[in-house]
Amino acid sequence: MELKEKINLEKLPQHIAIIMDGNGRWAKQHGEPRIFGHENGVRSVREVVEAAAELGVKYLTLYAFSTENWNRPQEEVIALMQLLVHTISAETKTLNENKIRLQAIGNLNSLPEDCFNELHDAIEKTKNNERTTLVLALSYSSRWEITNAITNIAKQIEDKTLTSSEITEDIVNANLCTAGIPEPELMIRTSGEHRISNFLLWQLAYSELYFTEKLWPDFRKNDFYEAILDYQNRERRFGKTSEQLNQNNMAGQ
Ligand code: IPE
Ligand code: IPE
Ligand code: MG
Repeated sequence: MELKEKINLEKLPQHIAIIMDGNGRWAKQHGEPRIFGHENGVRSVREVVEAAAELGVKYLTLYAFSTENWNRPQEEVIALMQLLVHTISAETKTLNENKIRLQAIGNLNSLPEDCFNELHDAIEKTKNNERTTLVLALSYSSRWEITNAITNIAKQIEDKTLTSSEITEDIVNANLCTAGIPEPELMIRTSGEHRISNFLLWQLAYSELYFTEKLWPDFRKNDFYEAILDYQNRERRFGKTSEQLNQNNMAGQ
């Protein structure tokens, strides 16, 4: 039986987030400069986007560039931005053919102009697609996002459109870049690193975390299916006991 067929489509995560890590190490293993790893990571992006759409995963968020990544050597940053512009413009047609909507989260104003324009263009051209939403986290960090949300909320209080006693988790959610997007049930990180690296700190509060040794350019559809199958074998308790959950399941039957 193929891995894909083992997936229970009734229990499919609605939203999967991925920290695509290990491009530099992959390139080193191949005796090539780091950018070679980034270029080869594009194929993995295509594979997971296609796999997510085929399965019916509604949201796929890919961490493509963090706020902290601006501190990398200048030539790597420039090459990454060029790769981004090129890939986005080359893939827009395929996104439309597969009914995939593109969105982006992060400090998009900090992107180089051509990159920002290309991104904006692709978001516009794909905005009516409803099969799967691909969210690119670009110049993104969670602390930046949360700080931004706090500033927005403070402004609403200053403007007297909100009072401090009205602040709820829903209000916080509404002021994050991910407003309107459900929380990821599953977060995957490649390359064997066991950390979050400033990614979706608020949104991952109850996500299942999956770590694999595979370096991002080696990540294929089957690796994606494996992560989903692993997720489907877990018990999500949200603070309750296993017995409580089983009782509820029995009652629901
Ligand atoms: C992930 O791969 C891509 C980005 C962060 C842009 P890395 O470039 O971090 O690869 P490693 O971790 O150095 O191997
Ligand atoms: C996280 O990877 C950011 C992206 C994948 C875009 P990094 O390689 O930048 O993370 P650290 O530095 O190892 O934590
Ligand atoms: Mg890395």
